[in-house]
Amino acid sequence: CGIVGYAGPRDAVPVLLEGLHRLEYRGYDSAGLAVADEDGGLRVVKTAGRVGDLRRAVPDGTAGATGIAHTRWATHGEPSDRNAHPHVDAAERIAIVHNGVFENSDRLRARLVAEGVDLRSDTDSEVLAHLVARSTADRLEDAVREALAQVEGTYGVIVMDVERPGELVAARRGSPVVLGVGEQEMLIASDVTALVRFTQQVIFLDDDEIATVTAGGYRTSTMDARSTTRSPTSIDVASAEYELGEHPDFMYKEMREQPDAVDRCLRGRLDHRFSSARLDGVGLTPQDYQRIRRVKLLGCGSAYYAGQLGAQLVEELARIPADAEPASEFRYRNPVVDPDTLYVAISQSGETLDTLAAVQELKRKGGHVIGVVNAVGSTIARECGHGIFLHAGPEVSVAATKSFTTMAVALALLALDLGRVRDLSITEGRRLVDGLSRLPDQLARILAAEDEVARIARKYADARHMFFVGRVRGWPAAREGAQKLKEVSYVHAEAYQASELKHGPLALINPEMPTVVLVPDDELLAKNTATIEEIKARGGPVIAVTDADLPEGLATDVIRVPKAHDALAPITLSVPLQLFAYHLAHALGRDVDRPRNLAKSVTVE
Ligand code: G6P
Repeated sequence: CGIVGYAGPRDAVPVLLEGLHRLEYRGYDSAGLAVADEDGGLRVVKTAGRVGDLRRAVPDGTAGATGIAHTRWATHGEPSDRNAHPHVDAAERIAIVHNGVFENSDRLRARLVAEGVDLRSDTDSEVLAHLVARSTADRLEDAVREALAQVEGTYGVIVMDVERPGELVAARRGSPVVLGVGEQEMLIASDVTALVRFTQQVIFLDDDEIATVTAGGYRTSTMDARSTTRSPTSIDVASAEYELGEHPDFMYKEMREQPDAVDRCLRGRLDHRFSSARLDGVGLTPQDYQRIRRVKLLGCGSAYYAGQLGAQLVEELARIPADAEPASEFRYRNPVVDPDTLYVAISQSGETLDTLAAVQELKRKGGHVIGVVNAVGSTIARECGHGIFLHAGPEVSVAATKSFTTMAVALALLALDLGRVRDLSITEGRRLVDGLSRLPDQLARILAAEDEVARIARKYADARHMFFVGRVRGWPAAREGAQKLKEVSYVHAEAYQASELKHGPLALINPEMPTVVLVPDDELLAKNTATIEEIKARGGPVIAVTDADLPEGLATDVIRVPKAHDALAPITLSVPLQLFAYHLAHALGRDVDRPRNLAKSVTVE
């Protein structure tokens, strides 16, 4: 979900709509806004639908100098007008927007009903409006504090009270809140994306911090009312980076940006002299590196698959046992935390709650964790303190593309750096440095051959199911390829290790079941061609994605990519799979930037 608030001299409505529009990628089941109008009344407009629907639903003349807004990704209660935020109290004096989950909302709802409150929605969030309204505290900030003391769970909230016009109170626990400091105006949002068009001066609230803002300024304090001193930092993102420009959608734009994104991710980090990587942000000395006995990579979704790819790179280049695990599994299984393990938390947004919770659990148990994060200033980046920023630029489309690629590149740099402290020779190091330097150009060539991938994708647009198979280096790329296809096209796709096909899934192979086979030009080439034969023998169409010269007629269709360093082939092989998913989804008329039921950044459990 996304939240926005505004206090200042302008009309809040267009500012809120613009902010929501920027945040829509975080959730788009429903949207709403509330402003304090000139007569001291509260005007609330909400709709089950997208921000565009909300814009149309706002009656002419709706205006106010203070307001809050929300775009929702449903957790409790179906997407509907009723369940859309803002929520208000019975007297329509208090309005709130909330990201996160109030876990004890059933109990609180029951208590409020018993006290005679007429609840209007099925959401967990609504309770907050009533709890604030029932407080007798003099200041809104204290009323919010009292109310939040009664809830359990996570929140990023903004609260307004029409009886205190010009003032907003925001608080966070587990869900991001950032203040935007403008000239005689203040903004609040869950994400800097919503603010950059108005100001680049921001303050990221800490957990359990609360802020009161007015047009003229802000004050921050802890939940137990000790004041905190926060000064704004400057964020260096041009608002143009959030614009589509000439591109049809953000997924397309972000795929096309990959050569530049990788170039930025590599900039200043290749050490040609020692054939190594220069990763100052990691904050570890060669002596620290020597002590590492294992590497554990954690993330969700595409970040988890990038972690799997990274684990392979670490094992291959540094010969340190490494594995990846979904952050949510890790945090819930009471992990054994080992002081000689380097933990790596991977996240584009830096806000994914499961990944953040895994980091916090690790830190509590004394684990050493670094972040591989795109969003500078994000919660995971701050919580880790050290790590590697991706510098991929803002990623808006729900489907990860340039973030996945740059995660893999950043992890290759880490593996190289670790490797050069361990067994990797200077010659091997040099080969990898060269391989990494060639990547931006190779990715540009892959993107230039888009039409051919698009043609193949359209050819398979009728398929109801697809397999994606790969072995060893090709396996994480196959998983990410299947994920991309599922997300944006809704075609059922399953990834398998190529060798596992014969232990079950081969039973499903027939002319209606295409299989995408990843075929890196490495020591397993013969094994992969055998896999293709196996599938063909059962009448299954095969789309080979490869940097090898395959025999003519071996696969039904072939997507060729330039030959990369063996260890980096999973990166070059992944990019055509994005194009494949993208064009197949378009052939089916899907809204690729906003796949149903998904959100870009999942800040709830
Ligand atoms: C969501 C998105 C995925 C993303 C995952 C992790 O599920 O839909 O595309 O890979 O979150 O996000 P993060 O921001 O932590 O990389």
